[in-house]
Amino acid sequence: MTQYILSIDQGTTSSRAILFTLDGNIHATSQQEFPQHFPASGWVEHEPEDIWRTVQETCDDVMAKGCGDNDEVVAVGITNQRETTVLWDRATGEAIYPAIVWQDRRTADWCESLKKQSLEPSVNNKTGLLIDPYFSATKIRWILDNVPGAQQRAERGELAFGTIDSFLLWRLTGGREHRTDATNASRTLLFNIHDQDWDPELLDLFGIPASLLPQVMDSAADFGQIVGNGRLGGTSVMGMAGDQQAALFGQTCFETGMAKSTYGTGCFLMLNTGDKALTSEHRLLTTVAYRLNGKPAYALEGSIFIAGAAIQWLRDGLQLIRDACETEPLAEGTPVDHGVYLVPAFTGLGAPYWDPNARGAIFGLTRDTGIKEIVTAGLQSVCYQTKDLQKAMEKDGIRPITLRVDGGMVANNWVLQFLADILGARVDRPALVETTALGAAYLAGLQAGVYKSLEDLSSMWRCDRSFEATMTKAQRDKLYDGWLKAIRKL
Ligand code: G3P
Repeated sequence: MTQYILSIDQGTTSSRAILFTLDGNIHATSQQEFPQHFPASGWVEHEPEDIWRTVQETCDDVMAKGCGDNDEVVAVGITNQRETTVLWDRATGEAIYPAIVWQDRRTADWCESLKKQSLEPSVNNKTGLLIDPYFSATKIRWILDNVPGAQQRAERGELAFGTIDSFLLWRLTGGREHRTDATNASRTLLFNIHDQDWDPELLDLFGIPASLLPQVMDSAADFGQIVGNGRLGGTSVMGMAGDQQAALFGQTCFETGMAKSTYGTGCFLMLNTGDKALTSEHRLLTTVAYRLNGKPAYALEGSIFIAGAAIQWLRDGLQLIRDACETEPLAEGTPVDHGVYLVPAFTGLGAPYWDPNARGAIFGLTRDTGIKEIVTAGLQSVCYQTKDLQKAMEKDGIRPITLRVDGGMVANNWVLQFLADILGARVDRPALVETTALGAAYLAGLQAGVYKSLEDLSSMWRCDRSFEATMTKAQRDKLYDGWLKAIRKL
């Protein structure tokens, strides 16, 4: 009999199920993309039933592929796109409105008016976040205001709110468990990261009835037993974390000063600050990195909304390439100083600018600009945005001791070399780049007793390749200066 841990990774554009061996290797995977809905400018929605269906189908598929009759799944971990907001009926389990996705900007005006009332400092003190449509609170409020009868039903306790982790747990446990973990709670704008509890003043400010909220657990905990769902029935969910926090965990960045940067739909750089919730003076977020045995570890986070999504746009929107893997040879054949800057602010700008109304632009086009310059500028935009975060951290007096990278884009060696060059720092790519799913598996495995300590997990991290900076400082500064000019022109 072989034992596995199943990780469910519910991301922005696809759902994945991965079976990990107990020594942290991938045994089998299944992935399905699902439709994105853009009902108005700046709006992004998902159909909760698509999310649920793709999770169920990928779990069934991976079990059929990888788990023999005598094999066993010892625990399940869930990791998820964060902030995305679902409200559902507790009696039927049906969502009352589509999931409002983290990228959605529909509440920008309301956020602006809250900022004008000077509410941001107190919200930031409690939550570590800024007032921005990115986070869940204003999305919940929008649903309560716009779905007929929702406010009254919420007040009667008939509705439940959850980020995707809670929604999946509810469905997996047949409606028995309404829970989340501290990392996901810390992205709602309703959770006090110092008290580690929902904050009554914030609930008041956003007009959110407490009866909507899930119970907040550690990231490694007994979340509940799966009911039905074929062979997974009877198995317990034992790990849960928002995808960026799960990636930090999977990269085993457990020491203060260790950082990871994940290049998925967006890019999220997260630096472990240990038991101290550091406040950024330069518009980075303070967030819960993970919570184990009741003790939170905190992180500073820089959130960029568009990274891999820019490459997707070059492929599907502009149709300049057929496959993301074409970008590497195109960039290799292009000088880095071609003069084109692509600012992919399709859904506003995240850290450190936080401008929900900014929109994308391309600068520096000339008659000889071609596909390769635009594609290269797309790849470079991801690196320049990471540089913006590095700069903000430096201004806060912090320099990461390591930068471990992961996510789909890190297969591209050109991107990682340019990233190291533009940061002027070493960048490490792990042997296993599915660190988000791995992090959820590690959390579940800790709770199940498969792993005894964080040191156990650290010893399992392997480097595939390190990229060292080779660019001169003068060239780095010149290129980055061009980026800052492009941002200013927005
Ligand atoms: O905060 C949003 C983030 O969790 C989404 O991650 O990997 O789906 O881009 P990803």
